[in-house]
Amino acid sequence: MRAPDIIIAVDGCSSTGKSSFAKLLASELGFLYLDSGALYRAVTLFAMENGLISRDSVISPALHKALDGADLHFGQGGTYLGERCVEKEIRTMEVSALVSPISAEPYVRSFVDGRLHAMARNGRVVMDGRDIGTTVFPDARLKIFFTASEEVRARRRFDELKAKGESPVFEEVLDNLKKRDYIDSHRAASPLRKADDAFVLDNSDMTFTEELAWVKGLIQGKFSIME
Ligand code: DC
Repeated sequence: MRAPDIIIAVDGCSSTGKSSFAKLLASELGFLYLDSGALYRAVTLFAMENGLISRDSVISPALHKALDGADLHFGQGGTYLGERCVEKEIRTMEVSALVSPISAEPYVRSFVDGRLHAMARNGRVVMDGRDIGTTVFPDARLKIFFTASEEVRARRRFDELKAKGESPVFEEVLDNLKKRDYIDSHRAASPLRKADDAFVLDNSDMTFTEELAWVKGLIQGKFSIME
C-alpha cells in the first residue's frame, strides 16, 4: 500500500533559518524538499540576464511572455536555469534586491505556483516559502510559521554573505531585509502572512536542535509519519 501524500508547509520571513531547517526536516523524514523562494530568485536572475528588469526595479511587460520559454527546475546541486546550475548566482545581493518586486507580479506567482504543484504531485514534501500554507497548499497537513527579530535575522544573513566571500555592510543587509519584509507583506498578490492554522516558531533565541525537537514533537502529536 502506498503511503499517503503529505505536504508540510514552512513559511516565514527571510533569514529566519527556515530553509536550512526545512531541508534538514525533509531529509530526516525522507521527504522531498522544495524551496519556492529559489524559484522566485531564478525568475529574477532570468529577468536580469534577459534585460527584462532594470536596476531600479522596472519590470518589462515582456517578462510575462518570456517566462513561457523559461526552463526552471531543481537538479543536482540546486536550482537550474536550463542546463545551468544557478544556485550561487540566485543568492547574491543583486538578486536579493530585485526579487521582491518580481515576486509581487501576479503572473510570476502563478508561474511559480504551477511549477510547485507539478513538482509536489504524488509525494511527501516539505516546501518552504511565504505563502505555502495560505495559497499554494492551503490544505497542507502541517503548517509552521517561522519568525525572529529583525536584528537577529540581519546578523544571520550578514554572516552567511561573509562566509560566501562577499563584503556586506550590516546596515545595508538590515535595510534590504526590512524592505523585503515590507514588500512581501504588503503586496496585493498572496502577501506574506501566517495561516490561521499555522504553528508559530520564534527562533530568535533557539538553537537548531531545539527547533527540530519542537517540530518533531508537533509531528508526533499530529500524525504518524515517522515510521
Ligand atoms: O526565501 P527567500 O528569501 O529565498 O525568497 C526570496 C524572495 O521570494 C522573497 O523576498 C519573497 C519571495 N517569495 C515569495 O514571494 N513567495 C514564496 N513562496 C517564496 C519566496
